Amino acid sequence: MGRKSFDEVLKYTEYAMKTIGQKTMTDDEMNKFIAEAEFNYQNHVNPGFLEYRKAAGGDQMAMEWICEGDTFTDLHGKQYIDCLGGFGTFNCGHRHPKIVQNVKNQLDKQPLASAELIEANRGLLARILADVTPGDLQYTFFTSSGTESVECGLKMAALSTGRHYFVAFKADFHGKTHGSLSLTAKADYRGPFLPLLQGARFAPFGDLDYLKKLIEIQEYIGELPAAIVFEPIQGEAGVNIPPDDFIPGIRKICDDYGIMMIADEVQTGMGRTGKMFAVDHYDVAPDILCLGKAISGSVVPLSATVCTEKAFSGMFENPLLHSTTTGGNPLATSAGIGCINVLLSENLPDNAAKRGAQFMAGLEKLHQKYPKLLVTSRGRGLMIAMEFCDGDKGYEVVYEAFNRGLLLSGSLINAKTIRIEPPLTISEANVDKALNILDESMDVVYKRDF
Ligand SMILES: Cc1ncc(COP(=O)(O)O)c(C=O)c1O
Repeated sequence: MGRKSFDEVLKYTEYAMKTIGQKTMTDDEMNKFIAEAEFNYQNHVNPGFLEYRKAAGGDQMAMEWICEGDTFTDLHGKQYIDCLGGFGTFNCGHRHPKIVQNVKNQLDKQPLASAELIEANRGLLARILADVTPGDLQYTFFTSSGTESVECGLKMAALSTGRHYFVAFKADFHGKTHGSLSLTAKADYRGPFLPLLQGARFAPFGDLDYLKKLIEIQEYIGELPAAIVFEPIQGEAGVNIPPDDFIPGIRKICDDYGIMMIADEVQTGMGRTGKMFAVDHYDVAPDILCLGKAISGSVVPLSATVCTEKAFSGMFENPLLHSTTTGGNPLATSAGIGCINVLLSENLPDNAAKRGAQFMAGLEKLHQKYPKLLVTSRGRGLMIAMEFCDGDKGYEVVYEAFNRGLLLSGSLINAKTIRIEPPLTISEANVDKALNILDESMDVVYKRDF
C-alpha cells in the first residue's frame, strides 16, 4: 500500500484522535467508522481475525465502545453482560471509579518514569504484594503481560538454582513468547517455532505419581529441573481442576529436590476462584508467583513476578540482569494498587465464590434440561466452563447468546468448552439474566439440531 505523505498521516491521526474523544456518533458516522475498522483489520491488523471473531460479531458487526461494571455497550448502543471478562482481566469490573481515579491522579503527575530513579509506586505495590501473597513471597519484578511474568519466573528459577530444565503439564498455557511457549503444551502453538527451550518436560496434569517418577528419572540422569511450572486450574485448556493432593504434592516434590515451584496465576489470581489466589485453596505457598491480566485493575496492563528472597537473590548483585523499560510504570502500578484495594474493600473473592455457586446451580439445571447439548459444567468461583457435545454446538450457543446480549468465548485450546469468567463484581441479577439468555440460546440450538 506504500508510504503516504506525512501531511496525509497527520490528518489521519487528527481524525483518529477526534474519534477517541467521541462518545456518540450519527448513523452515517457509525457506518463509515465500522466499515473503516473492517478495512483496517483486513489490511493492517490481520484479516484472519474478521473470520475468527465471527461468533462474537453476531448478526451485525459489533464494536465494544463504552464499558462499565459488568456490562459494555457496543457502538450501536446495544448492551451486553460481559461473561468473558477479557479472559480473566476484568476482575474489578470495567472502569472501576476508584481505580480510574487513582490512575487519573497519577496521569496528572507522571504517567511514565525515567527508568533511572527510584519510583515510589513500584515500591508501594511490591510491598502490598508481599503482604497479600501467601508464604514468604517478598520481591516483585513488574512487567506488562502474563507471558513476561512467566519469562521472568523461569529466569529467576534458573538463576537461583543454577539449573536449566523445566517441567510443566500437558495442555498447560503459559504464554506465547519463546520461553513461556516452551512450557505451553499444545502442538498447534509450538509446532511452527520448534525447537524451543531445550529441556522442557511434561507430565499429565493432576498425575502426581507420574510427576514423582519423572523427577526421579530427571535426578538419575542429572537433569533436575530449575522449576515445576503449573496453573492451579488450567484455564485455556478448559478449566481443568486437579485432584486435591496435586498442588500440595508439587510443593513436597519441590522441597524434596530443591526445585522452584512456579505458580502461574495469570488467570486464576486476584480473586478469580473465590480466594485471593488459587493456591490459597490448598494452603500452599509457591516460590515464584506469576500474575497478570486482572492485576491491571482492568485499567492499565500490568504483570508481576512475586518471588521469595531465595528465588530472587540472583538479581541483587546486578539488578539489570533482567529488565524492561516501561514494565511496572507509574500508571500501571497505580492501577495495580487500586486493584488490590478494590478486591479487599469490596470483598470480591467472596463475591466470586457466591456468584460462582449461583452460576453452577443454574448450569446444572440447564444440563438437566439439555443433556445432549450441555454435557457438563465445572468451575471454581467465577472460573467456569460449560462443556458442549461438540465445538460446533458450543459455537452456535455462543452466537445465539451474543445476539441476545451476552458475551462468552471458547478456550484457546479446547473449542468444545465455553468459559464463563465475568467481572467478580457481577450482580446476582445479572447472573440470573445471563442464565436466562443461556437457556434461550440452548433452546434454539436444541430445537434446531436435536
Ligand atoms: C495461565 C496463563 N499464563 C500466561 C498467560 C499469558 O498471558 P498474556 O496473554 O498476558 O501474555 C495466560 C493468558 O491467557 C494464561 O492464562
